[in-house]
Amino acid sequence: MSVHIGIVTVSDRASQGTYEDRSGPAIREWLKLALSVPWQEHYRLIPDEPARIEATLRELSDETGCCLVVTTGGTGPARRDVTPEATEAVCAKMLPGFGELMRQVSLHSVPTAILSRQTAGIRERTLILNLPGKPAAIAECLSAVFPAVPYCIDLIEGPRLETDPDFVKAFRPKAG
Ligand code: MTE
Repeated sequence: MSVHIGIVTVSDRASQGTYEDRSGPAIREWLKLALSVPWQEHYRLIPDEPARIEATLRELSDETGCCLVVTTGGTGPARRDVTPEATEAVCAKMLPGFGELMRQVSLHSVPTAILSRQTAGIRERTLILNLPGKPAAIAECLSAVFPAVPYCIDLIEGPRLETDPDFVKAFRPKAG
């Protein structure tokens, strides 16, 4: 089974070209270091529009067959920040532990970490994971939660993800 991974930057300004997207590429670079299996990236840069976010997540899950979609941006309290709501709208199950852990580790860097409503959820065979829009948050958040990601994808009957254990160690509980 081939490994398809979605990287979705949600940002009005980056999608309009006001500034360059640095968070999406930071996710790509982190995943390149983390994954030891071949994988194919599907990158999208979209504005903070609920319908666009939901349609993009559905497309990457249902049509592209991504086992993992990582979003960045739109998690804060500002009026246009709607990524967690769009994620919840397309997911059958939420996994609040991802957001809890990411906020916990981010709090060591910035007190404003509690402003991120980032979450994660399951749509069919896809794990959708929100990260904040700050480039510095990417490695911090991914390093915290990624040890649980390969087993989560096993449980939803996705492809077997292997990681470079020197960079991030996947944890799979032993059977029995
Ligand atoms: N988490 C980490 N690790 N590093 C950060 O700099 N910034 C916070 C928070 N989480 C931050 C972080 C801030 S200032 C905000 S407003 C929220 O993420 C939401 O950011 P977003 O709306 O760009 O997703």
